Amino acid sequence: MISKLTNIIIPAYQLNYNIERNKNIIQASLSRNIKLPFSCRSGVCGTCKAKVLKGKVNKNNKVNHVLTESEKNDNIILTCQAEAISDLLELEMLSPISKQLDNEKPKEMISEILSIKQVTTKIKDIKISVSKRFTFIPNKLSYIEIIIPGSDIKEKYYILYKNKNNNHINCGHINILVDKRKNINLNKYLEKTLAIGEIITIKGPYLDNNFPSFPDKPTLFLSKNINIIKTLNIINELLASGFEYPIMLISYFDKKKDILLMEEMHKLQFLYKNFSYKITLFNKDPSNTSRFLFGSVAKNINKIFPDLGLHYIYMNGENDFLIEINKKIIELGSKEENIFIDKNN
Ligand code: FES
Repeated sequence: MISKLTNIIIPAYQLNYNIERNKNIIQASLSRNIKLPFSCRSGVCGTCKAKVLKGKVNKNNKVNHVLTESEKNDNIILTCQAEAISDLLELEMLSPISKQLDNEKPKEMISEILSIKQVTTKIKDIKISVSKRFTFIPNKLSYIEIIIPGSDIKEKYYILYKNKNNNHINCGHINILVDKRKNINLNKYLEKTLAIGEIITIKGPYLDNNFPSFPDKPTLFLSKNINIIKTLNIINELLASGFEYPIMLISYFDKKKDILLMEEMHKLQFLYKNFSYKITLFNKDPSNTSRFLFGSVAKNINKIFPDLGLHYIYMNGENDFLIEINKKIIELGSKEENIFIDKNN
């Protein structure tokens, strides 16, 4: 069951969003894509101090090494420790919220192709330059659009987030994966211009607000092909925000050589005890029988989970994939309120 929500308002930054009550305010805000100021997250540094203007928080049994008696009497709290307990909580942050977190308007800009790497037979990893004006947080659900001049053709490209880059706000470039199978017109355009040194127009970054609220329960992610970028970005966010329940990712690719981001999945499994993944392939490869599952996700899922009644499910892929999976997980006991179908690809 999704826990009760609190409406957080931070007037100085025009922030107004809902958080779950059973997590501290920093953690709950992160799972809503809002990064309030923090550093230690252990009640030691004071970076996360905020003044409660309206509403109530629960501070019982929480760690505080920095708040003085007079600050406490003045309604100052540590947001890395306090949990919201009222329907509304209005805050004044005592440290500034980073500029990149203001809901900046997307910008249209010229970008240069810096490198192109063929990742699978159909997918290319293109690295494009971004100006310093283009600030973003790589571990958020940021995406850009590539624009064909003189037409209204554009498509979302999720920014490829890799673990090792998660401290960079703007490192002068971003990576996106271009999939030949997606928008035909756009891909024709990209094929024409896709050479190192070519100039393309991009718009963004946009933040995908279609971000589900993950309840406190084991969560199963099901994802296909290129949608794995967004799915892994969400998993990264969730794990980094301290989600403690088991997370499993089952991803589906046609062939072994089409597998994307396996190294990233592996890194996450190494970093977080509560994360594991399985890859299913359409084609059986005799040389790798023990490592992968074969056949559709729907055919394989009950080998892993005989009952999905206790899980929250997130699915991301093309329509036929989603329909097939949805049918299967309902058969395995999933309840509609625990299923999130991401159609916003
Ligand atoms: S983040 Fe350091 S005290 Fe809260």
